[in-house]
Amino acid sequence: METVKVNASKNYDVIIGVDTVALLGKKINEMFPGATVCVVSDSTVARLHMQTVRRNLEQYGIKNSSFVFEHGEGSKNPEVLFEILEYLAQKHFTRDDVLVALGGGVTGDITGLAAALYMRGMHLVQMPTTLLAMVDSSVGGKTAVNLKAGKNLAGVFNQPELVLCDTKMLSTLPRPYFNDGMAEVIKYGVIADKELFDLTAQGNPERNIEKIITRCVTIKRDIVCSDEFDHGKRQLLNFGHTIAHAIEKISDFKFSHGSAVAVGMVIISDMANKNGLSEDNCCNDIIDALLENNLPIGCPYSTKEIFHATVNDKKCSGEKITIIIPKKIGECKLMQVTLSEFERMLG
Ligand code: GLY
Repeated sequence: METVKVNASKNYDVIIGVDTVALLGKKINEMFPGATVCVVSDSTVARLHMQTVRRNLEQYGIKNSSFVFEHGEGSKNPEVLFEILEYLAQKHFTRDDVLVALGGGVTGDITGLAAALYMRGMHLVQMPTTLLAMVDSSVGGKTAVNLKAGKNLAGVFNQPELVLCDTKMLSTLPRPYFNDGMAEVIKYGVIADKELFDLTAQGNPERNIEKIITRCVTIKRDIVCSDEFDHGKRQLLNFGHTIAHAIEKISDFKFSHGSAVAVGMVIISDMANKNGLSEDNCCNDIIDALLENNLPIGCPYSTKEIFHATVNDKKCSGEKITIIIPKKIGECKLMQVTLSEFERMLG
């Protein structure tokens, strides 16, 4: 079992290993004695893991209840957020009580926001059940719901007070979701750690999953602690994501986030290579690592379509965007370019 300590606007531990779910009740009693817990989850994850989690709380004599919403990105909206808040109010939860987010990114984001809003803030524990949520969304405090105008448009920074990553839960995760998480893992390798990258490029990541998650969380911790509110360095975490969001949008979200990130990383590293901004082998190495992890390296959309979907809310070609350029495996830089420069660089 590994612990990564985060010192941001809140200090907290991220505990990674087999059966960390068994630590929940003990930790809650130590950290929030006397608190009542509401476990928030989606219908799929609740079916698989809710009973185990609530049994553990009962074992430690902790009063608890659950709120379950329908699985899927479609639930990440203000209506479901307010259903959670109304539920907490009906059940007389107070700000001394605890919300536990049990699930993937949607659950973590909406529960994190509910915890920030209810009575101006109650305690929050993240229990990510997908690889993507373990290495990315459960750590760092970004919370949000989607608005009709776009993804993650209503949210706040709200760091959790504990994160429990139970690697045993990954055994119930369907393979495409695991691969999605591997796209984010490969991203961490490219932006900050050649050794991690080389490990993922060997394929078969399950063998080293605890080490891989710990390394990703450590990299994210270091970046978040130096730029918690996302004004600079934290943008490195968006390597491949600007293009990925465009691909998700054009495909009407048929492309999963991880697959879109994989393709986004290829397009940007190919662009960097063609414009002499990265080491020669960088793009090919990224492609090899993605293929080794059963991730796509291309999509059916033209560069022109992707460019327009990327910038469609930015009308002026003189306007600047920040792109993340891989200089070599293990090192990326932020680069501000105008939209017309970006279009020319994409080729
Ligand atoms: N997922 C990117 C970030 O936390 O900043």
